Amino acid sequence: MSEIKVRQVEPFSAEITVPGDKSISHRAVMFSALSNGVCDIKGFLASEDCLATVGALRAMGVKIEELNEERTHLRVYGNRGEFQAPEGPIDCGNSGTTMRLLSGILAAQPFSTELVGDPSLSKRPMNRIAIPLEMMGAKIEGQGSRLTPPLRIQGTSKIKPIEYDSPVASAQVKSAVLLAGMLGKGKTSVTEPSLSRDHTERMLDYLLVKLVREGNKVSIWGDQIPESRDLVVPGDISSAAFWIAATAGFPGSRLLVHSVGLNRTRVGILDALIRMGAQIRERVDESGCEPMGSIEVKGGELQGIEIGGDQIPTLIDEVPILAVAGAMAKGRTVIRDAAELRVKESDRISTVAENLRRMGVLVEEFADGMEIQGGAQLKGAVIESLGDHRIAMAFAIAGLRAKGETVIRGAECIETSYPGFADELSQLLSSTRRN
Ligand code: S3P
Repeated sequence: MSEIKVRQVEPFSAEITVPGDKSISHRAVMFSALSNGVCDIKGFLASEDCLATVGALRAMGVKIEELNEERTHLRVYGNRGEFQAPEGPIDCGNSGTTMRLLSGILAAQPFSTELVGDPSLSKRPMNRIAIPLEMMGAKIEGQGSRLTPPLRIQGTSKIKPIEYDSPVASAQVKSAVLLAGMLGKGKTSVTEPSLSRDHTERMLDYLLVKLVREGNKVSIWGDQIPESRDLVVPGDISSAAFWIAATAGFPGSRLLVHSVGLNRTRVGILDALIRMGAQIRERVDESGCEPMGSIEVKGGELQGIEIGGDQIPTLIDEVPILAVAGAMAKGRTVIRDAAELRVKESDRISTVAENLRRMGVLVEEFADGMEIQGGAQLKGAVIESLGDHRIAMAFAIAGLRAKGETVIRGAECIETSYPGFADELSQLLSSTRRN
């Protein structure tokens, strides 16, 4: 098990680019694999999660070439929506996106597949995708009432259209249903309680698949395959968020992030930090499939805020770092309506609360969130990542402001989403000294 050691730093000035967006990378390779020709992908995130998607597609007969050593430039040969039955179970590793989106595609294949995952993924509920996909005609078996993995999917070439009212705002559920619908017949619609990230809709639209969006409802027509087109993946705002939060609440620090995704369904963390008083400026280029641009941050004192409702899906993966920003801000930060966090790579409500307490912060935990008393001097502590990459990174950032040493245990999980985080951190640590 690897460890990262962090200590308090002086205000810093940095200019960074972050690796490709995880959500968009998964979709780029899956949708290219479904397409009618050859697609080049630039800026692909060569992290464990996205490589699990590449491995899964290769196991089903898709040819994927790596065009550079870093594996960020891929060439995918589309198979027109028809995969081959894999020889054995498909290992999705730690990746919920791989398992859930792939399930939508597999529901429409005329063979049976087994999907397995690591101990964390094996605890995550798959009934949320199994319910609509079974309504569409697939048969899905999992463990217990929440259908945790291993998952067995018996697909069908006769997927039926549905009108699905999703009980959760989940891009993974929405995408699984839309993918099955696109490979089936007729018009399939998904409505979600509030808008989750819309990368699937944007990319399918860019690949000339007919779909219509009306508020929180998306409809797609069956018998379609994506047109092959080259794709560019912007930097991951969820990875940039760690450095943005580290800077925003640190008077005297400055940061410039280049070529990062600025999709409105993903930038809730910027909006939240701005409400906390952060000085953040965005420059957005809207000309591509996804908005992207640069972010400039000037550090200052932050104030606690209350956050919940429709804002939560727009920063669902950023709640751990938002909680750390709340601990460094003056006053209370209250996070509500975020019960989804309990079924992420770890139970992020309890993992965040426990680790903040270890650093000397007063935290009250609710079923759907937490209240953090900010403003106290953080103390260095031993942090358990519990195999959750975003916990490991959020608390490494907290360690930059804590008195004494912070040790992040189980830091290898960072490789699932942000290869290069530890190097970026050690550069920061060596460029600024504080005793
Ligand atoms: C993702 C959607 C989110 C997010 C996950 C990636 C995606 O999950 O937490 O890291 O790529 O669709 P939900 O859609 O289940 O909230």
